[in-house]
Amino acid sequence: MVETTISVIKADIGSLAGHVIVPDFILEFARKEMKEAAEKKIINDFYVTHAGDDLELIMTHFKGEDNEEIHKLAWDTFMKCAEMGREHKIYAAGQDLLSDTFSGNVKGMGPGSAEMTITERKSEPIAIFMADKTDPGAFNYPLFRIFADPFNTAGLVIDPNLHGGFSFVIQDIKKEIPCFIEMKCPAEMYDVLALLGSTSRYTIKKVYRNDGMITASVSTDKLHMVAGKYVGKDDPVAIVRAHSGLPAMGEVLEAFTLPHLVAGWMRGSHVGPLMPVAIKDSRCTRFDGPPRVIGLGFQVCNGSLVGPVDLFEDVAFDITRQRAMEIADYLRRIGPFEPGHRLEEASMEYTTLPRVLDKCAARFSEEEIVPEDKSKDTSGSAE
Ligand code: F6R
Ligand code: MG
Ligand code: MG
Repeated sequence: MVETTISVIKADIGSLAGHVIVPDFILEFARKEMKEAAEKKIINDFYVTHAGDDLELIMTHFKGEDNEEIHKLAWDTFMKCAEMGREHKIYAAGQDLLSDTFSGNVKGMGPGSAEMTITERKSEPIAIFMADKTDPGAFNYPLFRIFADPFNTAGLVIDPNLHGGFSFVIQDIKKEIPCFIEMKCPAEMYDVLALLGSTSRYTIKKVYRNDGMITASVSTDKLHMVAGKYVGKDDPVAIVRAHSGLPAMGEVLEAFTLPHLVAGWMRGSHVGPLMPVAIKDSRCTRFDGPPRVIGLGFQVCNGSLVGPVDLFEDVAFDITRQRAMEIADYLRRIGPFEPGHRLEEASMEYTTLPRVLDKCAARFSEEEIVPEDKSKDTSGSAE
C-alpha cells in the first residue's frame, strides 16, 4: 500500500500591479525549483499555480506531514521567488515571509499549509481549493455542507458507505498554542454548527470519515497572530478527497454554489461573497476582490499527480458568479459601515483602523461637547 503525502504550501511573496496576480516569471521560476527538487527525489511530483496574489506549491511525496525537508523546500522557494520579486520591484515582495531564517517548519513563519497523508485507494480523486482575499474560516461553510449536510450531499442519505457520517477536527485559532476539538456528525451536528458559525475563531483543520479515514485538510495559519499586525489575509487552502465511500466530486463542488459571505476583501477588513472561478479569473480586481476560490481536480497515482482539471471552469458556475457579483455590488454600497460590509470592530484589531481610532481617542470627553454657537453673531452682517 502506498502512503502518499499531499502538501499544499502557499505564500504571498509579491504580486503584479498591487495585490492582483503572481507574475508569470515567478511561477516559471517556482516550477523550475520544484522540478529540480523532484529530480533530487525530495518530492515525488508537483503542480505550481496561483490563487490571485498567492503562490501555491502543490507537492506529493512519501515523507509524511510536517516534514522538515519538504517545508524547507517550500520556504527556500518562496525566499528565492521573493528575492526575484524584489529585483523587479514587484509589489509587496516577500509579504508573507515573516522571518529571515527557517526553523524546521513553515508553520508560524507566514506561509499557509494544508497536508494530508493517505493510503491510496484503487483510484484517488482529490480536489484542491485555494482562496484569495479571505481567511481559513471561509472553508467552514462549504466543508460542513460537503460532509454533514444531506441537502448538499445526497450520498449521506443514499450511500451506505457515507451513512456513518464524518467527524470534524476544529481548531480554536485565537489560541496562541494550537487547540483542537473533535466532533462527530450527525450525532453532534448542532454543537459543530455552534462552533463553525464563529468563522473568525473556530476553523476546520481536518475531516475524517467516522471509521477514521482522512477526507479533508485545511490550512489554519493566521498571519496576524504571528506578526502581531495586519500583513494580508490568511488566504486558505484545502485538500478534499472524493468518491468511493466519500462525497462525489459533484457533491464536493455543489457546496460552492452559494457565494457565502466571508471576511477579507479590501484591506482584509470587509465582508464579501466567495466567488468560485477558473484559474484564468483568479485575479482580485474590484475593490481587491470579490474574494475568490479556485479548485483543481487531480488523480493521485502512486505518489504522482495526474491532471489537473480546472473544476470551476464551467458554465454551471456562471449563475453563482453572477449572484456573487450582485451581492458584491450591493455590499459595496454600504461602504465603511458595519454590519454588512465593514468587519465588526473586534476583527479590525490587526488592521490599520486602530491607528486612526487612537488619534480620535484623546478628543473624547466625559461631558457632552457643545460647539460654540456662532450662528447668532450677526455683527458686521448686512442685516
Ligand atoms: C487584502 C489585500 C489588499 C490590501 C490593499 C492595501 O488581503 O492584500 O486588499 O490590503 O490593497 O494594500 P497596501 O496596504 O499594500 O497598500
Ligand atoms: Mg498581497
Ligand atoms: Mg492573497
